[in-house]
Amino acid sequence: MKPLFIAGNWKSYKTLAQAREWVDGFSKYSDELKALSGVTTIICPPYTLLSYVAQQIEALQLPLVLGAQDVSQFDEGAYTGEVNASQIKEFASWVIIGHSERRRNLGEPDDLLAKKVRAAKKAGLKVLYCVQDEAVWVPEGVDIIGFEPPWAISAVSHGRAMLAATAERVCVQIKATNPAIPVLYGGSVTAENIGEYVNQPSIDGVIPGGASLDPEKFANLIRAAVNSHK
Ligand code: PGA
Repeated sequence: MKPLFIAGNWKSYKTLAQAREWVDGFSKYSDELKALSGVTTIICPPYTLLSYVAQQIEALQLPLVLGAQDVSQFDEGAYTGEVNASQIKEFASWVIIGHSERRRNLGEPDDLLAKKVRAAKKAGLKVLYCVQDEAVWVPEGVDIIGFEPPWAISAVSHGRAMLAATAERVCVQIKATNPAIPVLYGGSVTAENIGEYVNQPSIDGVIPGGASLDPEKFANLIRAAVNSHK
């Protein structure tokens, strides 16, 4: 069975108190989820919660690895407001780069994203690089590609996740130009529809946003993914 990746993206949600509630809730499923094999679950909280979540993963032995949602293109230095890759590496092993919300809301272009990938790799971080279709350029050195059609993100209430067969066709094309890199699908993934995605031969996992915010829903999603994964 191919390895399965689930990368939960909290986006700009959760205070420390809310993160505590999430950890309390998720830890109830810890033993059960630890017994599942073949799945790597990455959780990506905002910067402010990386330290807390890292401590809890360690203390409670949660079956999670930690990721950040962005990284500075710069090393340490006089770059007010930036968080550099070495600072992230103190807590996390992964980073998301190129999410469509940052491309759209912060205007991040390909050349900036390539600099972020270089900075992340230099510090020893693994990179989950998001693309919005098969034509988007992928910089050298990324570890996983996330295919996320922007129209399907946060659209779960309108029933607009991309059809799994359509997502599969795009992932096949992404793999054709980026061989040997796992490709995940993101966009309104839930415990109910996850099985359709992870059963596709060219989809190696998923990136749930909204469905990662509630610990019970997230645990259900991980269980459903593993149970329906071929
Ligand atoms: P969503 O987000 O699951 O809430 O649609 C996915 C993502 O943007 O990573």
